[in-house]
Amino acid sequence: MQKKFFITTPIYYSNAVPHIGNAYASFIADTIARYSRLSNVDTRFSTGVDENSQKVVESAATADMAVMDYADMMAKKHQDTWDALDIRYSDFIRTTESRHRDFVQKVLQKSFDNGDIYEWVYKGLYCVGCETFKKETDIVNGRCADHPNRELEQLSEKNYFFRLSKYQDQILEFYSSHPDFVKPRTRYNEIIEFVRGGLEDFSISRETNKFGIPLPFDPSQVTYVWYDALFNYLTVVQDDESKWWPADIHVIGKDIVKFHGIYWLAMLWSAGYEAPKQLLTTGYFTVDGQKMSKSIGNVIDPVAYVGEYSRDMLVLYLFTAFPIGEDGDFSQEQAILTFNAKLSNNIGNLLNRSIALALKIGGKLEWDISVTSTEKVEKYHSLMEVHDLKWSIELAFEYASEINKYVDENTPWKLDIEIDSDKEKLESVLFHMIANLRKIAIMLLPFFDIKMRELLSRIGTPYDDAISLTENLARDPVSFFIAEKGEPLYMRIGK
Ligand code: MSP
Repeated sequence: MQKKFFITTPIYYSNAVPHIGNAYASFIADTIARYSRLSNVDTRFSTGVDENSQKVVESAATADMAVMDYADMMAKKHQDTWDALDIRYSDFIRTTESRHRDFVQKVLQKSFDNGDIYEWVYKGLYCVGCETFKKETDIVNGRCADHPNRELEQLSEKNYFFRLSKYQDQILEFYSSHPDFVKPRTRYNEIIEFVRGGLEDFSISRETNKFGIPLPFDPSQVTYVWYDALFNYLTVVQDDESKWWPADIHVIGKDIVKFHGIYWLAMLWSAGYEAPKQLLTTGYFTVDGQKMSKSIGNVIDPVAYVGEYSRDMLVLYLFTAFPIGEDGDFSQEQAILTFNAKLSNNIGNLLNRSIALALKIGGKLEWDISVTSTEKVEKYHSLMEVHDLKWSIELAFEYASEINKYVDENTPWKLDIEIDSDKEKLESVLFHMIANLRKIAIMLLPFFDIKMRELLSRIGTPYDDAISLTENLARDPVSFFIAEKGEPLYMRIGK
């Protein structure tokens, strides 16, 4: 077993509160981190805000606030969002913190000393939306293809450059010896193709921006936001770098895969660090078939959504509607249908039936043999270990459907407990139901912690936090006690 596990989310630009697309990455990292913690692995999960950006300066000006007052307010809003969504991160980093500035200056100096950073005059069109200079091929009708509402800025200034071109061969060699470095495979292939096309050195400083981390070897310039942002992943582990680095997984969106899959590797190597182990890349999703945008008014606020429905409904839908890595569409109608079918009906039904039958025989039972198979559990672990969250959840629901079918076939409600042979059969069917439902709930624990713990307590087999999730799953209960019927675990939405 791995002795430590370190997972990260992107650090989100702090000029807006997180929307559902950002929350998606955080839910993925949170679920993987929960599984790791429940498996008794020493786990660290970092998130935070990317503050040294022109976007933050502009938004502060629009809000008529001093930049740091604005940044403080927004960092608090981000933390409040993650708390409301029950994202259990262990570290929250702000790139304006002094610990981050000190660390970034240290690595900048290292790369400067070894000749990977040099001075040059740069001329080009800059997009504040992307925080990058744009090439002719990225420009459509005089604007950045991704930010058609913003004017490109013509910049000409003395800059410091990072010698990315030097690392081209090393990056290609790394990719060929690490076939699982970028998931999914399509993104891995895209990067290789891009690198083969040739890598150019990139500018890592700005003369005109005043908000950012000053270069230690030329304080008249501040560091380019991406150079500083990527190093957040190392700043957070400065208390015990050799234990936590390399990170096990960076969860990122497909729009930022080049920064992580190319720039980041070279920057790390230049400063004397190893590459992270894996980039888990998510796709983009639209809402009811349309790109999320403020002007359309379809940007979903995850906190409001969870308030109106529930965290479990949101996580269930985000994880089952499309596998990680693929683009998808968020359909509100489908979200409700999925919730009703899977949580309210499938799991809810199995729970209600188990409780009703148990109460028929006084709520108590003892059993001395194991009644569940290990096959599903093995499959579950193998899916969770490769972070296949969609199929791990689906496996648990398929399992619940099978047990519901088993109950339908055995019609235990027709049995007469006054007749000995009937009573024996009823007890056997019931024990099967409880032991399997218990396993299903444990499998779903990293996704729906609160409700699954509640379910396990209600069927008289509470989750044991003193042992690992694997051990909880490996044991069948030897008895249970159910006291009362209780409310539905998941109230159906609509009719
Ligand atoms: N600040 C940078 C990341 C620096 S990491 C060293 C950044 N921030 S962001 O706030 O713009 O985006 C954060 C993440 O949200 C990205 O991974 C991006 O892919 C994701 N998403 C933004 N919109 C999304 C959707 N519509 N759908 C899915 N994910 C989306 O980039």
